[in-house]
Amino acid sequence: MKKTLLTLTALALLAGSAEARTWADIKQSGTIKIATEGAFPPFNILKGKVLTGFEVELAEALAKQLGLKVQWVTQPFDNLLIGLGQDRYDFVIASHGITPERAKAVDFSAPHYCTGGAIVTRPGGPTTKAALKGKKVAVQVGTTYLENVRKVPGVGDVKTFPKDTDAQAALMAGRVDAWVGDKFTGLDLIKAQKGKVVQGDLLFKERIAMAVKKGNSGLLKELNAALAKAQANGTYAKISSKYFGQDVRCR
Ligand code: ARG
Repeated sequence: MKKTLLTLTALALLAGSAEARTWADIKQSGTIKIATEGAFPPFNILKGKVLTGFEVELAEALAKQLGLKVQWVTQPFDNLLIGLGQDRYDFVIASHGITPERAKAVDFSAPHYCTGGAIVTRPGGPTTKAALKGKKVAVQVGTTYLENVRKVPGVGDVKTFPKDTDAQAALMAGRVDAWVGDKFTGLDLIKAQKGKVVQGDLLFKERIAMAVKKGNSGLLKELNAALAKAQANGTYAKISSKYFGQDVRCR
């Protein structure tokens, strides 16, 4: 009998944990659980045990405004939205572009920056969409870069890597003709690898947003309000200029 009761309690707990934490739950606990990748400079980078980057600082500023402490969780990029569906954290900030397909699985916040997917190559390599014909291109798996590169007419081999930094390394090592990634990441790579890589065209534009579990509208409303406030009071501009030397908000 006792055993049955325990089992029922365990089941009830499990069932309970299948619900995303509401804004009231989060507020009451005093801590918000945020997930990111930690391998996508300059947006989210794990250096030793320290998480930094534009999105990390922005999310911490938003949490502070909401009166919450932050508990970070790092996950491979491809697992981030799955874990959100499993209630392993409250929201994700990892440079997800808003796409119709992702919007079926999660709810997106207002965009926290605007950017695009750019071609980067070695000097003499393909710099335009047309020039990618028959070429070998490296991209991170599960990204909008993969989706868009696949659509390039006649593109050669599209090589996917678990991490964006590995896709960049493949370009540097000469194993591919081009890498397609974020335009700001590309600018940093070009700066760091002076003369060894060059910026090509922008392949597509995208709006980047935070994701909450589908239907978690209370949390979404708070995140959007905190972002709007940070964008109005100079907090956002300060963090953005630290990482990019410019304001990267969508206009
Ligand atoms: N912006 C691209 C996308 O929406 C890439 C995001 C990659 N993010 C990351 N943390 N590696 O798919």
